Amino acid sequence: MKFPNDFLFGGATAAYQVEGATKADGKGRVLWDGYLEKQGRFNADPASDFYHRYPEDLALSKQFGLNAIRVSIAWSRIFPKGYGAIEQRGVDYYHKLFAECAKDGIEPFVTLHHFDSPENIYEDGDWLNPANIDHFVDYAKFCFKEFPEVKYWITINEPTSSAVQQYVTGTFPPNEKYNFHKTFQAEHNLNLAHARVVNAYKAMHLAGQIGIVHALQTVYPLDPASAGDQHAADLQDTLDNRVFLDGTLAGHYPDETLQLMREILVANRQADIQISNADEAELQEAADQLDFVGVNYYFSKFMKAYNGPSETVHNGTGKKGSSISRLQGIGESGLRPGVPVTDWDWPIYPKGLYDQLMRIHQNYPNIKNLYITENGLGLKESLSPDQHTIQDDKRIDYIQQHMNAILQAMQDGVNVKGYFIWSLQDQFSWTNGYNKRYGLFYVDFDTQKRYPKKSAYWFKEMAETHTVPA
Ligand code: NOJ
Repeated sequence: MKFPNDFLFGGATAAYQVEGATKADGKGRVLWDGYLEKQGRFNADPASDFYHRYPEDLALSKQFGLNAIRVSIAWSRIFPKGYGAIEQRGVDYYHKLFAECAKDGIEPFVTLHHFDSPENIYEDGDWLNPANIDHFVDYAKFCFKEFPEVKYWITINEPTSSAVQQYVTGTFPPNEKYNFHKTFQAEHNLNLAHARVVNAYKAMHLAGQIGIVHALQTVYPLDPASAGDQHAADLQDTLDNRVFLDGTLAGHYPDETLQLMREILVANRQADIQISNADEAELQEAADQLDFVGVNYYFSKFMKAYNGPSETVHNGTGKKGSSISRLQGIGESGLRPGVPVTDWDWPIYPKGLYDQLMRIHQNYPNIKNLYITENGLGLKESLSPDQHTIQDDKRIDYIQQHMNAILQAMQDGVNVKGYFIWSLQDQFSWTNGYNKRYGLFYVDFDTQKRYPKKSAYWFKEMAETHTVPA
């Protein structure tokens, strides 16, 4: 089976992970700047120096058969404080970037928020503060008017990561753990922020499309025959996925979703969240007008019942399968025998992508257009002086399996219109610095030189033939 003629093959990036130049041309600080300075382990300068090297990366994209790219606008390059004064040099940079994309025939999919809230916005409560939603909408409206050359807009990247990693796992600043009240409140506010931006965009009658990108980890019971494990999977799925899928694709929260959410809050003795009728009207209006949904898929989760306190358990070996997460009122994540894991313990399970696509197709039939906006494999890689390329057969194998799962879903009726590999080039990783590489193009972070990996040649063949190479 072949991918259709107009299928997009792209590489994904995000401003803070590739641009570097975090202090250049009047850019305002973002939540990560202070956090990384305090930690002192690594920072995002110069990352992959995309701020200066975008012409080279776009030329490489073209040379390797890609016809699309995911980029994000750094809110604080345009509004250094998140609102108020505009920084013209930031605006000019993005005009130049989009012009270069046009020159190379690469379609940009542009995200407005990819984890990089301006520092002021963050310090004022980030997504927990409703006033910040208004600032986000103002910034989005400015971009829609300023950049008519952009035809595909993405409101927010992986809202689940923002909420869950900020307030449950504590892996993103402010590093709070197990605060389910804040998590669900942030989840709802993210849905609302997305909805208001979609509604504002549609009210402007512009000639492009708008969507959202969700990280979707498919959740299964560890033991399919166990009702307890199934319930744990439903609870985890609610926390990670359902609140977002229902809020942004259906435009309302069904009773079952609300019940599961409240079960988690009650089990943790945490207060309920605020959702008003007016909010629901806005969610519905946006869902009715949404043009597409982006799916980021890396792994699945296998859940078993657990009744103790929340904790992350490391067995101290640092080897695969060495840490598990237990969440009070939800369950425990485990590894299913026979399912391989990455070096970061992420279960590799292409069927999870197929199942997730089918779930959207069946449960949210109003969604007509899907893109795979991220998928890929992180590896520890280093190029020795006598090597010219990275032999990343494991990555090729990973992409190949997932492309076949996508084709299968397409055959079964799902309209997938494009695939973006995470990532285009090696880049800065939020929690692993420069240790975890995903790129088609290896970046020597000392010289900033690019080296196509074996996977880049494989990807080129796929993009040119519209089939999955053997
Ligand atoms: C999802 C995020 O959008 C991206 O920023 C991140 O680096 C990748 N996943 C890999 O974890």
